[in-house]
Amino acid sequence: MKDAFGAVQSVLVLGGTSEIALATVRKLSQRRAHTVVLAGRDTARLSSAAADLQRAGASRVDVVGFDATDFASHQQLVDELWSRQHEFDLVLLAFGVLGEQERDEQDAASALEVIDVNFRAAVSVGIPIAQKLKAQGHGSMVVLSSVAGERARRANFVYGASKAGLDAFFQGLADSLVGTGVQVVVVRPGFVHTRMTAGRPAAPFATTADKVADDIVRGVARGSTTVWSPGILRPVMSAVRHLPRPIFRKMRA
Ligand SMILES: NC(=O)c1ccc[n+]([C@@H]2O[C@H](COP(=O)([O-])OP(=O)(O)OC[C@H]3O[C@@H](n4cnc5c(N)ncnc54)[C@H](OP(=O)(O)O)[C@@H]3O)[C@@H](O)[C@H]2O)c1
Repeated sequence: MKDAFGAVQSVLVLGGTSEIALATVRKLSQRRAHTVVLAGRDTARLSSAAADLQRAGASRVDVVGFDATDFASHQQLVDELWSRQHEFDLVLLAFGVLGEQERDEQDAASALEVIDVNFRAAVSVGIPIAQKLKAQGHGSMVVLSSVAGERARRANFVYGASKAGLDAFFQGLADSLVGTGVQVVVVRPGFVHTRMTAGRPAAPFATTADKVADDIVRGVARGSTTVWSPGILRPVMSAVRHLPRPIFRKMRA
Protein backbone atom coordinates (compact mmCIF):
# COMPACT_ATOMS: atom_id res chain seq x y z
CA MET A 1 0.00 0.00 0.00
CA LYS A 2 1.27 3.52 -0.76
CA ASP A 3 2.25 5.40 2.39
CA ALA A 4 0.43 8.41 3.86
CA PHE A 5 2.26 10.71 1.40
CA GLY A 6 1.19 8.65 -1.62
CA ALA A 7 4.72 7.23 -2.16
CA VAL A 8 5.15 3.83 -3.82
CA GLN A 9 6.36 1.32 -1.21
CA SER A 10 6.59 -2.00 -3.05
CA VAL A 11 7.76 -2.58 -6.61
CA LEU A 12 7.96 -5.64 -8.86
CA VAL A 13 10.09 -5.49 -12.00
CA LEU A 14 9.83 -8.08 -14.76
CA GLY A 15 13.00 -7.66 -16.78
CA GLY A 16 14.89 -6.80 -13.61
CA THR A 17 18.18 -5.96 -15.34
CA SER A 18 16.63 -3.42 -17.74
CA GLU A 19 18.52 -0.14 -17.52
CA ILE A 20 15.31 1.89 -17.88
CA ALA A 21 13.60 -0.15 -15.15
CA LEU A 22 16.55 0.10 -12.76
CA ALA A 23 16.82 3.88 -13.26
CA THR A 24 13.10 4.11 -12.42
CA VAL A 25 13.32 1.93 -9.31
CA ARG A 26 16.42 3.85 -8.14
CA LYS A 27 14.32 7.03 -8.16
CA LEU A 28 11.47 5.32 -6.34
CA SER A 29 13.92 3.92 -3.75
CA GLN A 30 15.21 7.42 -3.09
CA ARG A 31 11.54 8.32 -2.48
CA ARG A 32 10.94 5.57 0.10
CA ALA A 33 10.13 2.48 -2.04
CA HIS A 34 11.00 -0.10 0.62
CA THR A 35 10.50 -3.47 -1.00
CA VAL A 36 11.64 -4.37 -4.49
CA VAL A 37 11.49 -7.68 -6.37
CA LEU A 38 13.67 -7.99 -9.48
CA ALA A 39 12.59 -10.83 -11.77
CA GLY A 40 14.82 -11.94 -14.64
CA ARG A 41 17.18 -14.49 -16.14
CA ASP A 42 20.68 -13.35 -15.24
CA THR A 43 21.17 -14.03 -11.53
CA ALA A 44 24.60 -12.38 -11.27
CA ARG A 45 23.43 -9.11 -12.86
CA LEU A 46 20.19 -9.15 -10.87
CA SER A 47 22.15 -9.54 -7.61
CA SER A 48 24.45 -6.69 -8.51
CA ALA A 49 21.41 -4.50 -9.39
CA ALA A 50 19.82 -5.47 -6.05
CA ALA A 51 22.93 -4.32 -4.13
CA ASP A 52 22.89 -1.04 -6.07
CA LEU A 53 19.21 -0.42 -5.19
CA GLN A 54 19.88 -1.11 -1.51
CA ARG A 55 22.61 1.52 -1.60
CA ALA A 56 20.02 3.87 -3.18
CA GLY A 57 17.65 3.39 -0.22
CA ALA A 58 15.55 0.26 -0.78
CA SER A 59 15.36 -1.68 2.50
CA ARG A 60 14.74 -5.08 0.92
CA VAL A 61 15.46 -6.30 -2.63
CA ASP A 62 14.67 -9.89 -3.65
CA VAL A 63 15.70 -11.59 -6.86
CA VAL A 64 13.55 -14.24 -8.59
CA GLY A 65 13.86 -16.21 -11.82
CA PHE A 66 11.72 -15.13 -14.78
CA ASP A 67 11.93 -16.20 -18.41
CA ALA A 68 9.52 -14.24 -20.60
CA THR A 69 9.13 -17.05 -23.13
CA ASP A 70 8.35 -19.73 -20.54
CA PHE A 71 4.64 -18.91 -20.81
CA ALA A 72 3.57 -21.99 -18.83
CA SER A 73 5.38 -20.70 -15.73
CA HIS A 74 3.83 -17.23 -15.59
CA GLN A 75 0.61 -17.85 -13.65
CA GLN A 76 2.48 -19.83 -10.96
CA LEU A 77 5.21 -17.19 -10.69
CA VAL A 78 2.61 -14.44 -10.22
CA ASP A 79 0.74 -16.53 -7.61
CA GLU A 80 3.99 -17.15 -5.71
CA LEU A 81 5.03 -13.49 -5.82
CA TRP A 82 1.70 -12.33 -4.42
CA SER A 83 1.52 -15.05 -1.76
CA ARG A 84 4.99 -14.00 -0.58
CA GLN A 85 4.54 -10.23 -0.82
CA HIS A 86 0.72 -9.94 -0.57
CA GLU A 87 0.58 -6.79 -2.69
CA PHE A 88 2.60 -4.52 -4.95
CA ASP A 89 2.05 -0.79 -5.49
CA LEU A 90 3.83 -0.75 -8.82
CA VAL A 91 4.66 -3.43 -11.39
CA LEU A 92 7.04 -2.60 -14.21
CA LEU A 93 6.98 -4.75 -17.38
CA ALA A 94 10.41 -3.92 -18.79
CA PHE A 95 11.60 -7.02 -20.62
CA GLY A 96 12.11 -6.73 -24.35
CA VAL A 97 14.41 -7.48 -27.26
CA LEU A 98 15.25 -5.32 -30.27
CA GLY A 99 16.00 -8.22 -32.63
CA GLU A 100 17.94 -7.89 -35.88
CA GLN A 101 15.64 -6.52 -38.57
CA GLU A 102 17.56 -7.84 -41.58
CA ARG A 103 17.60 -11.38 -40.19
CA ASP A 104 14.11 -11.24 -38.66
CA GLU A 105 12.31 -10.18 -41.86
CA GLN A 106 13.74 -13.21 -43.68
CA ASP A 107 13.54 -15.83 -40.93
CA ALA A 108 10.17 -16.53 -39.35
CA ALA A 109 11.65 -18.24 -36.27
CA SER A 110 13.77 -15.16 -35.46
CA ALA A 111 10.83 -12.81 -36.02
CA LEU A 112 8.67 -14.94 -33.73
CA GLU A 113 11.28 -14.69 -30.96
CA VAL A 114 10.82 -10.90 -31.00
CA ILE A 115 7.02 -11.21 -31.08
CA ASP A 116 7.09 -13.83 -28.30
CA VAL A 117 9.18 -11.75 -25.88
CA ASN A 118 7.79 -8.28 -26.61
CA PHE A 119 4.13 -9.10 -27.18
CA ARG A 120 2.99 -12.63 -26.26
CA ALA A 121 4.99 -12.78 -23.01
CA ALA A 122 3.66 -9.39 -21.91
CA VAL A 123 0.10 -10.61 -22.46
CA SER A 124 0.87 -13.93 -20.77
CA VAL A 125 2.21 -12.33 -17.59
CA GLY A 126 0.20 -9.10 -17.80
CA ILE A 127 -3.19 -10.78 -17.42
CA PRO A 128 -2.46 -12.60 -14.14
CA ILE A 129 -0.78 -9.45 -12.77
CA ALA A 130 -3.84 -7.35 -13.69
CA GLN A 131 -6.04 -9.86 -11.86
CA LYS A 132 -3.89 -9.59 -8.70
CA LEU A 133 -3.87 -5.78 -8.81
CA LYS A 134 -7.63 -5.77 -9.32
CA ALA A 135 -8.09 -8.10 -6.33
CA GLN A 136 -5.95 -5.88 -4.07
CA GLY A 137 -7.94 -2.85 -5.34
CA HIS A 138 -5.01 -0.56 -6.08
CA GLY A 139 -1.68 -0.40 -7.90
CA SER A 140 -0.03 0.68 -11.13
CA MET A 141 1.23 -1.44 -14.00
CA VAL A 142 3.81 0.36 -16.12
CA VAL A 143 4.46 -1.19 -19.53
CA LEU A 144 7.41 -0.29 -21.73
CA SER A 145 6.10 0.13 -25.24
CA SER A 146 7.95 2.24 -27.84
CA VAL A 147 7.43 4.96 -30.44
CA ALA A 148 8.36 2.18 -32.87
CA GLY A 149 4.88 0.75 -32.30
CA GLU A 150 3.11 3.98 -33.29
CA ARG A 151 3.77 3.31 -36.98
CA ALA A 152 5.95 0.38 -38.02
CA ARG A 153 8.90 1.53 -40.13
CA ARG A 154 10.51 -0.30 -43.04
CA ALA A 155 13.79 -0.29 -41.11
CA ASN A 156 12.39 -1.76 -37.90
CA PHE A 157 8.99 -3.33 -38.56
CA VAL A 158 9.36 -6.63 -36.70
CA TYR A 159 10.15 -4.85 -33.43
CA GLY A 160 7.59 -2.15 -34.34
CA ALA A 161 4.87 -4.74 -34.89
CA SER A 162 5.63 -6.43 -31.56
CA LYS A 163 5.36 -3.10 -29.74
CA ALA A 164 2.19 -2.11 -31.65
CA GLY A 165 0.54 -5.32 -30.41
CA LEU A 166 1.73 -4.75 -26.86
CA ASP A 167 0.67 -1.11 -26.90
CA ALA A 168 -2.84 -1.86 -28.20
CA PHE A 169 -3.34 -4.68 -25.69
CA PHE A 170 -2.35 -2.62 -22.65
CA GLN A 171 -4.36 0.43 -23.76
CA GLY A 172 -7.41 -1.83 -23.84
CA LEU A 173 -6.48 -3.41 -20.51
CA ALA A 174 -6.13 0.09 -19.01
CA ASP A 175 -9.65 0.95 -20.13
CA SER A 176 -11.02 -2.34 -18.79
CA LEU A 177 -9.60 -1.53 -15.34
CA VAL A 178 -11.03 1.97 -14.98
CA GLY A 179 -12.91 2.15 -11.68
CA THR A 180 -11.03 -0.77 -10.08
CA GLY A 181 -8.29 1.38 -8.49
CA VAL A 182 -5.72 -0.04 -10.94
CA GLN A 183 -3.80 2.25 -13.30
CA VAL A 184 -2.05 0.95 -16.44
CA VAL A 185 0.56 3.29 -17.87
CA VAL A 186 1.82 2.69 -21.41
CA VAL A 187 5.27 4.28 -21.83
CA ARG A 188 6.47 5.17 -25.34
CA PRO A 189 10.15 6.09 -25.27
CA GLY A 190 12.04 7.07 -28.39
CA PHE A 191 15.70 6.07 -28.78
CA VAL A 192 17.22 5.53 -25.33
CA HIS A 193 20.96 5.05 -24.76
CA THR A 194 21.01 1.66 -23.00
CA ARG A 195 22.54 -1.78 -23.48
CA MET A 196 19.74 -2.48 -25.99
CA THR A 197 20.81 0.28 -28.39
CA ALA A 198 24.58 0.19 -27.72
CA GLY A 199 26.57 0.59 -30.95
CA ARG A 200 23.58 1.85 -32.97
CA PRO A 201 23.40 5.39 -34.35
CA ALA A 202 21.23 7.58 -32.14
CA ALA A 203 17.85 8.69 -33.55
CA PRO A 204 16.56 12.30 -33.26
CA PHE A 205 15.42 13.19 -29.71
CA ALA A 206 17.58 10.38 -28.24
CA THR A 207 17.41 10.32 -24.47
CA THR A 208 18.78 8.49 -21.43
CA ALA A 209 17.37 5.85 -19.07
CA ASP A 210 17.51 8.42 -16.27
CA LYS A 211 15.31 10.90 -18.18
CA VAL A 212 12.81 8.17 -19.14
CA ALA A 213 12.71 7.19 -15.45
CA ASP A 214 11.82 10.81 -14.53
CA ASP A 215 9.00 10.75 -17.09
CA ILE A 216 7.70 7.41 -15.76
CA VAL A 217 7.72 8.53 -12.11
CA ARG A 218 5.95 11.78 -13.06
CA GLY A 219 3.41 9.94 -15.25
CA VAL A 220 2.51 7.48 -12.49
CA ALA A 221 2.12 10.30 -9.95
CA ARG A 222 -0.14 12.25 -12.34
CA GLY A 223 -2.29 9.23 -13.18
CA SER A 224 -1.32 9.36 -16.87
CA THR A 225 -2.37 6.53 -19.16
CA THR A 226 0.28 7.25 -21.82
CA VAL A 227 3.78 8.63 -21.27
CA TRP A 228 5.89 9.81 -24.23
CA SER A 229 9.58 10.14 -23.47
CA PRO A 230 10.74 12.72 -24.28
CA GLY A 231 7.37 14.51 -24.39
CA ILE A 232 8.17 16.22 -27.72
CA LEU A 233 7.71 12.82 -29.40
CA ARG A 234 3.96 13.06 -28.94
CA PRO A 235 3.46 15.85 -31.54
CA VAL A 236 6.35 14.55 -33.65
CA MET A 237 4.83 11.06 -33.91
CA SER A 238 1.41 12.54 -34.55
CA ALA A 239 2.90 14.20 -37.67
CA VAL A 240 4.94 11.10 -38.61
CA ARG A 241 1.81 8.96 -38.42
CA HIS A 242 0.27 10.98 -41.25
CA LEU A 243 3.29 11.15 -43.57
CA PRO A 244 2.56 9.76 -47.04
CA ARG A 245 3.79 6.15 -47.39
CA PRO A 246 6.45 6.81 -50.09
CA ILE A 247 8.12 9.37 -47.79
CA PHE A 248 7.63 7.38 -44.60
CA ARG A 249 9.08 4.25 -46.22
CA LYS A 250 12.44 6.01 -46.67
CA MET A 251 12.80 7.00 -42.99
CA ARG A 252 15.78 5.22 -41.48
CA ALA A 253 15.91 6.85 -38.01
N1 LIG B 1 16.49 1.42 -25.30
C1 LIG B 1 15.59 1.95 -26.11
O1 LIG B 1 15.91 2.72 -27.05
C2 LIG B 1 14.13 1.65 -25.93
C3 LIG B 1 13.19 2.48 -26.59
C4 LIG B 1 11.83 2.21 -26.46
C5 LIG B 1 11.42 1.15 -25.68
N2 LIG B 1 12.35 0.36 -25.04
C6 LIG B 1 11.84 -0.78 -24.28
O2 LIG B 1 12.17 -0.62 -22.92
C7 LIG B 1 12.32 -1.91 -22.30
C8 LIG B 1 13.63 -1.94 -21.53
O3 LIG B 1 14.70 -1.76 -22.43
P1 LIG B 1 16.13 -1.19 -21.97
O4 LIG B 1 16.46 -0.07 -22.91
O5 LIG B 1 16.16 -0.95 -20.52
O6 LIG B 1 17.07 -2.38 -22.42
P2 LIG B 1 17.85 -3.51 -21.60
O7 LIG B 1 18.66 -2.89 -20.52
O8 LIG B 1 18.53 -4.32 -22.65
O9 LIG B 1 16.68 -4.36 -20.93
C9 LIG B 1 16.00 -5.38 -21.59
C10 LIG B 1 15.52 -6.36 -20.53
O10 LIG B 1 14.74 -7.38 -21.13
C11 LIG B 1 15.14 -8.61 -20.55
N3 LIG B 1 14.80 -9.76 -21.38
C12 LIG B 1 15.01 -9.93 -22.71
N4 LIG B 1 14.57 -11.15 -23.09
C13 LIG B 1 14.07 -11.75 -21.97
C14 LIG B 1 13.47 -13.01 -21.71
N5 LIG B 1 13.28 -13.94 -22.67
N6 LIG B 1 13.07 -13.29 -20.44
C15 LIG B 1 13.26 -12.39 -19.44
N7 LIG B 1 13.82 -11.18 -19.62
C16 LIG B 1 14.23 -10.87 -20.88
C17 LIG B 1 16.64 -8.46 -20.37
O11 LIG B 1 17.11 -9.46 -19.51
P3 LIG B 1 18.61 -10.11 -19.63
O12 LIG B 1 19.48 -9.26 -18.76
O13 LIG B 1 18.43 -11.49 -19.10
O14 LIG B 1 18.98 -10.08 -21.09
C18 LIG B 1 16.66 -7.05 -19.77
O15 LIG B 1 16.33 -7.10 -18.41
C19 LIG B 1 12.21 -2.93 -23.42
O16 LIG B 1 10.90 -3.44 -23.48
C20 LIG B 1 12.48 -2.10 -24.67
O17 LIG B 1 11.86 -2.67 -25.83
C21 LIG B 1 13.68 0.59 -25.14
